[in-house]
Amino acid sequence: MSLSAINLAYLAASLLFLFGLKGLTHPRTAVRGNLLGALGMLLAIVATLLDRRILSYQMILAGFVAGAAVGTILALRIQMTAMPQMVAVLNGFGGGASVLVAGAALVEAVHLPGSPGLQMRIATAASGLIGGLTFWGSLVAFGKLQGVVSERVLTFPGHRAVNLLLAAVAVALGILVVLDPGQVSSYWLLIAAASVIGVLLVLPVGGADMPVVVALLNSYSGLAAAATGFVLSNNVLIIAGSLVGASGLILTGIMCRAMNRSLSNVLFGGGGGGAGGGPADEVYGGKVRSTSADEVAMLLEGARRVVIVPGYGMAVAQAQHPIQDLASALGARDVEVEFGIHPVAGRMPGHMNVLLAEANVPYEQLRDMDEVNPTFQETDVVLVIGANDVVNPVARTDPSSPIAGMPILDVDKARSVVVIKRSLSPGFAGIPNPLFADERTLMLFGDGKKAVLDLVEALKES
Ligand code: TAP
Repeated sequence: MSLSAINLAYLAASLLFLFGLKGLTHPRTAVRGNLLGALGMLLAIVATLLDRRILSYQMILAGFVAGAAVGTILALRIQMTAMPQMVAVLNGFGGGASVLVAGAALVEAVHLPGSPGLQMRIATAASGLIGGLTFWGSLVAFGKLQGVVSERVLTFPGHRAVNLLLAAVAVALGILVVLDPGQVSSYWLLIAAASVIGVLLVLPVGGADMPVVVALLNSYSGLAAAATGFVLSNNVLIIAGSLVGASGLILTGIMCRAMNRSLSNVLFGGGGGGAGGGPADEVYGGKVRSTSADEVAMLLEGARRVVIVPGYGMAVAQAQHPIQDLASALGARDVEVEFGIHPVAGRMPGHMNVLLAEANVPYEQLRDMDEVNPTFQETDVVLVIGANDVVNPVARTDPSSPIAGMPILDVDKARSVVVIKRSLSPGFAGIPNPLFADERTLMLFGDGKKAVLDLVEALKES
């Protein structure tokens, strides 16, 4: 296939990526968007396979089999609840692949007659720096989310000074790679420095802030891929990498806003460690009122407007289908039902939307935080299922809390609140929630799925 035909195919693939992303911005067009993106990727792969300048088919097949084996095993074994860790690892693999591909291209180029061009030298240094940082940073993020590394803020005296020193060393090594690419050892030393920076950058981030870091590392993995695209002069890699880099950065910004934190505060503020919020005994002592499915069914029946607020516990319990049955049963009784979705409810962006879409909850019933918050005062019953941090009023009242300033769903402003969870255990941020002891709140203790099934049954019988 000629070079211009390949570049034409890459251009078409890039356009398909853009239309795919556009489609993904709305649930109604998301499936088509996903298909367009996948089609673009297929086109890019086929064009690359036909570009015989690149590699032998045996090498491609070997890479394909090894990658597919690892990917299939990971995808089959991973629990839905461990998806953030999976995303972190995949980002890391992207960064690691960029480092290795750029390194291989550099080694190959220095063995060919003539010196590698300036574009390639700069791009190789960028790929090594960003890719190395992304790989190790992502592995630490994985470790924290998986509980292998402590979720707490891990830091030491002079941490920032060491980071700055390492950054200076990495920049100096990057300049060496650009000035003297024949010294390939500078490239590997650059990766070593970038790797330590990656580890030291993520270690001080507390568990509750890890989603933001994973989104940022996702953006870095895209930037590393784009840099490698410049190394290989591969247009589709440059464009796809830039799209991942930009979308990861936008997502990072959205998440920071959702938690009311600046990015520098997340990365260097040492917050989100899961302390504070007052002792649980003090918050709950003698004030928690538990209830039964029958009592809640009566409350729901008498309501005109009900808002369901799902959280991580709904994902754990896999209660999305019974929740949809409950919403339909209430709808059939002329109760207005909406779902209030917090941007960081669950453990990954869009977690609740995905689960509710799987259960065929009509998209029109989903309300974002900003839309639903002003309606709580006119809401008769809020049914909180497996959510905790995202409805914790402490975010508004206690500046020393790890979730201080995070915008929350103001469910405590509704006429009554029913919370379904198994116990008074804290959520991700590790702090007690005064909502559970509020005089308007009733606790329906139990597994989310069983509790909602009991509710549906109780409604039928009433
Ligand atoms: P959390 O605050 O984590 O609370 C979840 C609650 O679900 C727990 O208190 C738990 O209480 C309950 N639960 C667990 N299993 C259950 C089951 N089978 N049935 C019923 N309840 C169950 O969840 P949230 O309110 O969704 O907040 C999300 C938190 O995760 C935030 O702090 C956010 O920053 C963080 N985070 C978010 C993301 C993204 S991007 N969404 C990623 C990582 C972390 P019991 O044990 O008492 O049942």
